[in-house]
Amino acid sequence: MTPEEIKQVNKTDRTKGYTPWKPIVLEQIRTELAQCKKEKAYVLDYGAGVALPHIKLLRKLFPQHHFDAYDCGKNVTDSHVRSLQRDFYDFVFASNVLNILPHAKIVVNVLDEMLDALKGDGILVCNFSSNPRKPWHKLSYRGGSAELFRMLNKRFATVRLLNDNMISPLFGCAYKFT
Ligand SMILES: C[S@@+](CC[C@H](N)C(=O)[O-])C[C@H]1O[C@@H](n2cnc3c(N)ncnc32)[C@H](O)[C@@H]1O
Repeated sequence: MTPEEIKQVNKTDRTKGYTPWKPIVLEQIRTELAQCKKEKAYVLDYGAGVALPHIKLLRKLFPQHHFDAYDCGKNVTDSHVRSLQRDFYDFVFASNVLNILPHAKIVVNVLDEMLDALKGDGILVCNFSSNPRKPWHKLSYRGGSAELFRMLNKRFATVRLLNDNMISPLFGCAYKFT
């Protein structure tokens, strides 16, 4: 991303005054962790924001698991990891991140970065909210969610639409292609 694009995406963090939305990704990752059989799962919140609302709650609910937060530009604090390790996480989630990215090329980069950080049997949970969806976002146009669905299907053996809503989808993806 260019420095200008990083500034744009940083501003979308709700703790900086952006419109709040339903935490559907958080609800889903809570369900996944409640069912998780691993003694210690490694979990990444990609595009976590500055105040880490999701991670703070999840750490209280699941103290046995390990949580990392990742962000970029000025939204990175001492509580965030600076870089991502390959094949490291059992779960990666991105709440309201893909829909605020400047253009489709960056969506591809972000998907590949999250894929890289996931273990082979890891699970990705991400949404693609229709509101807000940035007007400059090429995937905003009709069919944007279907395009994202195609991108995910190229990267994972299993891609499930979890909320029965292709306008504002919530996806659960497993078994990445390496
Ligand atoms: C709308 S906020 C969502 C914050 C939080 N996940 C939530 O649901 O409240 C989007 C966040 O994604 C971050 N972000 C966007 N693109 C990113 C990238 N390529 N790498 C890391 N973080 C990114 C932004 O800086 C911003 O903090």
